[in-house]
Amino acid sequence: MAESTRNASFQWRILPPILALLLSLPIVSGSFFKPFNVSYDHRALIIAGKRRMLVSAGVHYPRATPEMWPDLIAKSREGGADVVQTYVFWSGHEPVKGQYNFEGRYDLVKFVKLVGSSGLYLHLRIGPYVCAEWNFGGFPVWLRDVPGIEFRTDNEPFKKEMQKFVTKIVDLMREAEMFCWQGGPVIMLQIENEYGDVEKSYGQKGKDYVKWAASMALGLGAGVPWVMCKQTDAPENIIDACNGYYCDGFKPNSKTKPVLWTEDWDGWYTKWGGSLPHRPAEDLAFAVARFYQRGGSFQNYYMYFGGTNFGRTSGGPFYITSYDYDAPLDEYGLRSEPKWGHLKDLHAAIKLCEPALIAADAPQYKKLGSNQEAHIYHGAGETGGKVCAAFLANIDEHKSADVKFNGQSYTLPPWSVSILPDCRHVAYNTAKVGAQTSVKTVKPARFPLGSMSILQKVVRQDDASYISKSWMALKEPIGIWGENNFTTEGLLEHLNVTKDQSDYLWHKTRISVSEDDISFWKKNGANPTLSVDSMRDVLRVFVNKQLSGSIVGHWVKAVQPVRFEQGNNDLLLLTQTVGLQNYGAFLEKDGAGFRGKAKLTGFKNGDVDLSKSSWTYQVGLKGEAEKVYTVEENEKAEWSTLETEASPSIFMWYKTYFNTPDGTDPVVLDLGSMGKGQAWVNGHHIGRYWSIIAQKDGCDKTCDYRGAYTSDKCTTNCGKPTQTRYHVPRSWLKPDSNLLVLFEETGGNPFKISVKTVTSGVLCGQVSESHYPPLRKWSTPGFMNGTMSINSVAPEMHLRCEEGHVISSIEFASYGTPRGSCDKFSTGKCHASKSLSIVSEACQGRNSCFIEVSNTAFQSDPCRGTLKTLAVMARCSPSQDTSYLSFSTA
Ligand code: GAL
Repeated sequence: MAESTRNASFQWRILPPILALLLSLPIVSGSFFKPFNVSYDHRALIIAGKRRMLVSAGVHYPRATPEMWPDLIAKSREGGADVVQTYVFWSGHEPVKGQYNFEGRYDLVKFVKLVGSSGLYLHLRIGPYVCAEWNFGGFPVWLRDVPGIEFRTDNEPFKKEMQKFVTKIVDLMREAEMFCWQGGPVIMLQIENEYGDVEKSYGQKGKDYVKWAASMALGLGAGVPWVMCKQTDAPENIIDACNGYYCDGFKPNSKTKPVLWTEDWDGWYTKWGGSLPHRPAEDLAFAVARFYQRGGSFQNYYMYFGGTNFGRTSGGPFYITSYDYDAPLDEYGLRSEPKWGHLKDLHAAIKLCEPALIAADAPQYKKLGSNQEAHIYHGAGETGGKVCAAFLANIDEHKSADVKFNGQSYTLPPWSVSILPDCRHVAYNTAKVGAQTSVKTVKPARFPLGSMSILQKVVRQDDASYISKSWMALKEPIGIWGENNFTTEGLLEHLNVTKDQSDYLWHKTRISVSEDDISFWKKNGANPTLSVDSMRDVLRVFVNKQLSGSIVGHWVKAVQPVRFEQGNNDLLLLTQTVGLQNYGAFLEKDGAGFRGKAKLTGFKNGDVDLSKSSWTYQVGLKGEAEKVYTVEENEKAEWSTLETEASPSIFMWYKTYFNTPDGTDPVVLDLGSMGKGQAWVNGHHIGRYWSIIAQKDGCDKTCDYRGAYTSDKCTTNCGKPTQTRYHVPRSWLKPDSNLLVLFEETGGNPFKISVKTVTSGVLCGQVSESHYPPLRKWSTPGFMNGTMSINSVAPEMHLRCEEGHVISSIEFASYGTPRGSCDKFSTGKCHASKSLSIVSEACQGRNSCFIEVSNTAFQSDPCRGTLKTLAVMARCSPSQDTSYLSFSTA
């Protein structure tokens, strides 16, 4: 590295005085690493004196349970991540002003320690505004009530609270010795989040706020670099970083800063009523390779694991409970293949290039064709020898290209990058997926046999399909249910009343109807209409406790015909939130419920202005107040047995007990038979549910990875309920008698609820002779120095079931010219007759296996001169289950 660039780097050794003093004291350092400093130059972060190319895995700790964390971190590491990145969720840590929570899913220090103990670094994005599809963008809702507050601008009350919380987190990390200079994993922090998107709305005060936030953060003496993402005016000593689907070509606002990609959107979030996003692995790998090709040095997958919005943490409006995100690790922490494996290979290829990538201050550029280009990194390696790595890109969306580079010919598939860790041999191409595909299977749960009679054992599969035959029900009152109500004139803003303690707010008023009105409506053949200027997210209208109708929308006009009787009528309006706004300027003013005026039209004597009426308010449900969903309190309520033939009814609580499924596979509840509501297991709020159907159109039949990705490309699940399966973390279950409680708003059939388990039941692989040799071979001695030829190494197919599972059968195997894709393979003209027995021999009964794709491995050449492919479809079963053996083909 040139001396001049070292000098240009921001030196974190110039520490604030307090920190310097602290450091001079004999402190016991964190035990994960030998204490090291982090600085940066224009090329990269400098970790312990060395530039690094880093891959980061976004994992949000409260979207999983502490019991899941070790596995998620281990899988991030195995997938090739060097860093774990998370936001800090203020609303979870300070649910009540001044009362902090760092327990359970919010045990941040525990999470950071687990990251450190696995040898990974941590990027902590404190925000404290985080967006993240999290309720209110991570702000605690009490923040709205701080007198004079305006969020995210030059406003004293806001700055005071923000500083208090950010300080709290930095101190927490320091006290737990989690910073790298203390031997902990924290190498980098973040202040604010994409403020650049909204800054203009705040005028000069926005600009001042950026400066304040930066200097406040730096003033905390954390001793590691801070980033601001999407902040083109980030001050000199804060790194501005890129977020997006592609960040190659991003230029920070100063030549002294490295190119960091804080959010690589590898999928997208989902709304109730929306289809499911899917970002193809080839395009994602292309985006990442292009980033490092064009000078990037740190890239974070947003998300590597998305997880679940448990409880009411989901943001909005209308974000679903699952935060799967189409991430490399799925909602339950299972590998999503081929994405996980294809990226693992990519990371291995980038790692091989790291010596050259850090040796060069900038790449050398070579145009290879109209849409083809090379970037070459070379220089002196650490041990003095020459190092060279090259990236060859074909950005043509349709055609593959033959290019010449350093006198050699290369074929580049469309929209792809080839990575050459030695500037000569291709180790990896982003469009050639060698990794297995896994098909998730969702099966009715199997329960331990021990406690069952013989008859039960025989019928257990049927029994298992539904969670229970015995359900209890409890009616939730329609309207005002308790004494803690109040009456006032006019329509109040929803959040001002609920403080977000519940989704629900009842409003009741009395409407008196004269004989004249009734005859007026009869004569005109028309009913009166409730009309509200603007509302969000759900409004349910009742007259005399009968539901007139429901309106769903985000600041939409609500028009609902209503029927009154002569005399006094109760008009009941229930406003509901489905995740508070998490994005945009002026969040504190956003509110929920009603805006503008509300009136009844069509009365004989003119409209009734409801905005001036006297309204009685009640926050939440009676069942919520009585905590009927908890193990401790539920029995105090007056539940009655639910008859199997009971017709679906609105506003009902249901409860039952269920046993925990056998094995270790993730557990889900299939709530597809229900309408809309919330669910709790053993008192743990597993989230909102809603069987709302996704739009019929918009899902492409085929998904073409080529060309720029947008969130509406390659979506699936059109015309089906957006979400029917809800994750119940195993750690929330005991072996039997788990209490399930549901609150159902619209009517559903609890008898059809089932408990299921999810696993990768089917694996497919398709690797041809033209695939590249396994990346691990590159580290065998002699490979890099050229004494061994890379061309002599055959590609391999790797298959692997989930932990605790083995390959129980090979359903298809053909080495030759097989046709079709996963699940629909068939043999082609050319087929090695021993394909099935060779693959079965290598794989059956094992958790993982690999097979060389070569004539040698298949003991013959089934068609000389033809490019051969190995295609395999395999099934996985739990390893303790040996019933498959009787069907084995081996
Ligand atoms: C970004 C934001 C993230 C997340 C993402 C979409 O703009 O910084 O927090 O909301 O969009 O998933």
